[in-house]
Amino acid sequence: MGRIDKLMATMSLEEKIGQLNMVASSRVVTGPGERHDLLEGIRAGRIGNLLNLWGADETRAVQRLAVEESRLRIPLLMGLDVIHGHRTIFPVSLAEACQFAPDLWEKTARVAAEEAAEDGVAMTFAPMLDVARDPRWGRIVESPGEDPWVASQMAAAKTRGFQGRDLAARDSVAATAKHLCAYGAVTAGREYASADVSERTLHEVYLPPFAAAVAAGVAAVMPGFIDIAGAPMTSNAKLLQGWLRGVAGFDGVVISDYNAIAELINHGVAPDLVEAAALALNAGVDIDMTSGAYIGALPEALERGLVTMSAIDSSVRRVLKLKERLGLFDDPYRRGSARPRASQAAERRELAREAARAAIVLLTNRSGILPLSPETRRIAVIGPLAAAQQEMLGSWASAGRPEDAVSILDGLKAALPKCRIDHAADVDIEAESTDGISVAVDLCAGAEIVVLSLGEAAAMSGEAASRTDLGLPGRQRALAEAILDLGKPVIATLTSGRPLTLPWLFERADAVLATWFLGDEAGHAVADVLTGKFNPAGRLPVSWPRDVGQVPIFYNERPSGRPFAPGAHYSSTYLDAPPTPQFPFGHGLSYSRFALRDLRCDPTVVKAGDIVEVSVTVHNESEMDGEVTLFLFVRDPVASVARPLLELKGVQKLELDAGRRKQAKWRLPVEDLSFVGQGLERVLEPGRFEIHVGQSADPSGLLSGAIELAP
Ligand code: BGC
Repeated sequence: MGRIDKLMATMSLEEKIGQLNMVASSRVVTGPGERHDLLEGIRAGRIGNLLNLWGADETRAVQRLAVEESRLRIPLLMGLDVIHGHRTIFPVSLAEACQFAPDLWEKTARVAAEEAAEDGVAMTFAPMLDVARDPRWGRIVESPGEDPWVASQMAAAKTRGFQGRDLAARDSVAATAKHLCAYGAVTAGREYASADVSERTLHEVYLPPFAAAVAAGVAAVMPGFIDIAGAPMTSNAKLLQGWLRGVAGFDGVVISDYNAIAELINHGVAPDLVEAAALALNAGVDIDMTSGAYIGALPEALERGLVTMSAIDSSVRRVLKLKERLGLFDDPYRRGSARPRASQAAERRELAREAARAAIVLLTNRSGILPLSPETRRIAVIGPLAAAQQEMLGSWASAGRPEDAVSILDGLKAALPKCRIDHAADVDIEAESTDGISVAVDLCAGAEIVVLSLGEAAAMSGEAASRTDLGLPGRQRALAEAILDLGKPVIATLTSGRPLTLPWLFERADAVLATWFLGDEAGHAVADVLTGKFNPAGRLPVSWPRDVGQVPIFYNERPSGRPFAPGAHYSSTYLDAPPTPQFPFGHGLSYSRFALRDLRCDPTVVKAGDIVEVSVTVHNESEMDGEVTLFLFVRDPVASVARPLLELKGVQKLELDAGRRKQAKWRLPVEDLSFVGQGLERVLEPGRFEIHVGQSADPSGLLSGAIELAP
């Protein structure tokens, strides 16, 4: 008999359910939840899992209770939201997505895992894989953006990074793919609201990133808080059992979201905790995060015949198996026993800087003001985000410390020691007072260039942070307009967790950069880009709307019967705005200028099983070395189901010296042209397929070719 069988044979019902129970330590609380007597519960075997505790000493102390003082000595599983870094804070996920760089995504997850494990953590509730197309929804900041292909790449890279080669290693943590699924489709972008998406959209858009995480071996999956068309995800047997375990082949642990099992009562599908617990368990939810429904009500559910002992046993086995895979039985103190080497701290900061600058998107550079001239002698740095160290950390700062973050002001001061840099506090991020505007105007009057740091506070995106207005909060617009009226060159940086609709700023400022929440190295990264030490390479993973009325907005829409035609009244548009975004998916300027030529597809007549080689020649026509990002899209113009106008199938980033040319090549398997057919099965239909390559999803910039799939 193996270890798990032996244990199972000796466990009481309460001890079994204890393994399905996760309780929050008081260190961080992210929602309503039952309070427990933690220490007693661990000793008694009623609490098998904890969240929100970290620190080598703290985790060791509670682990000791489980492995030395509980009857069965089963180690605790300790989880934490290690989302974009643990001690070293990297850019928020939406910013990381701008890098389009799976190797970098993996590296930052690796460091986050190492640091979390050094603090005794064995599980992270990441990666978040919710495709997000509505910037009203605050959690877009945690997402990989609007595209399922990008989200799938991120799913695999993050899972590899967190889990490493061996889940049992002392520097690996179990990853949790969340939140299955379609959370990004909540009604009107309103947090926790219902989503109503078609089966097709589930299978084409929202599920593929989770399939990719499962294929990469993700240890856990978390269903979302929401319901999809009346079926709450926490009790959604069709998706959790049928799709996740059945179709995707997941054999790991399903862990509920915070208090979500009890919330099945509010959803209106369970009258009480007993039925809520039964619904969740029967749907395949193994661990109850904080609601107390399992420990409190599963025994009664069993008595009433609502659940079977074998369903409870299956969940317990899965949890014990995960603890075994994590090496917790062999050495429960494995994590939390290593200290970082001195050189590692510097390497991690260096990675944070590399990740931060690669995430910055240069949205406009109208007058070519950037990079800053080395002759610049006097800059005014103003706006409420200029000196805001804490805000740089973003919405999930884990064990990050505000004092470790470099503000934009400090980054510029460090980068430009010979330049006079003036700063004064002006308006607040959100407050209504305009008192500071005149001080800022006076300060800017003597400057050659103004850096205007605008945006949102970190808490204005993330969970429970939906907004109806995507403009600048408080009196920031008044500040910006007063400065723009001076007629000085103005460079605006936008610190935010979502695209902000600021057409007036894009029209008037000399340059605007999306700088998101870049983490500890924010200020240095911004300075690297402004000074030209780093040639901007970030690209938008979301279509940037002109107006909130355009959302949801995304590039891979299906064609309309009356497609948008400028000037045509009966076409798919608005009376008061075009349907196109302010900046398309993939947009991002460089200080270099790249041109594409010669799209080739080889062969041009293909059959199932073939691979098409797609190539283009890219030329750096500028005098600056730089990195270009190329997007490969396909379109199936005639099919049994209307296919999107463009579908992303590949991305390449190439370093290209000034004046040089290179060929970019993709190997596109013909099977990538298949799609979800009318009966939700995958179909590959013969006929003509368009192949497009461009620097963004803007149709006017695409090079196009075609291939023919023979019957
Ligand atoms: C969030 C999850 C998170 C959990 C634990 C919830 O409120 O939705 O994303 O992992 O809290 O902190």
